Amino acid sequence: MPMVAAEIRVTVQNLFAAFEGESNTHAKYIAFAAKADDEGFHGAASLFRAAGRAEQIHAANHARVMKQLGGEARCAIHPVVVTTTLENLRAALDGESHEIESMYPGFIAEAQAHGNTLAVRTFTGALEAEKAHARLYGEAIALLRSGKSDSWIASAREFYVCPVCGDTAETEEEHEHCPVCNAPWEKFEIIR
Ligand SMILES: [Fe+2]
Ligand SMILES: [Fe+2]
Repeated sequence: MPMVAAEIRVTVQNLFAAFEGESNTHAKYIAFAAKADDEGFHGAASLFRAAGRAEQIHAANHARVMKQLGGEARCAIHPVVVTTTLENLRAALDGESHEIESMYPGFIAEAQAHGNTLAVRTFTGALEAEKAHARLYGEAIALLRSGKSDSWIASAREFYVCPVCGDTAETEEEHEHCPVCNAPWEKFEIIR
């Protein structure tokens, strides 16, 4: 049935686009974390590292589904443009906003329309984590702009990342289970 093959092809293309995006975002956030440490924004560096770990988990999840559908999970990692931490935070927020408002909703709708539950699950896990990243980046931008150097952006801090779906949480008391994928809280990775 050629229609089925064509439908899977679109889902695989979307999985590849998300895999490539998440892989490059991971590389970008690691570079942004180093710059934030250089500028003394160690809390912002912790956030970049935690979000970067989440993007790595998303990339691996997308790759797994893509392989199950016959796709190949290999992509180029592009050179990262690093500027100031404030601009890096803004660039990160822009990227997250695009994924939240446009990319993932479109990919989820496409996968749902063709009943591909594995693709729906990996895209939805990523979408929910991106919402947390966008909120935290927005908070960091506001703190940095208002010159609150005694706030959390200055000191290295802990974030909690679900190893299954990449959900990114701020405090230890937030949940017993991952609110997105139900993984037990004790499995969460502590990223500083
Ligand atoms: Fe993200
Ligand atoms: Fe999770």
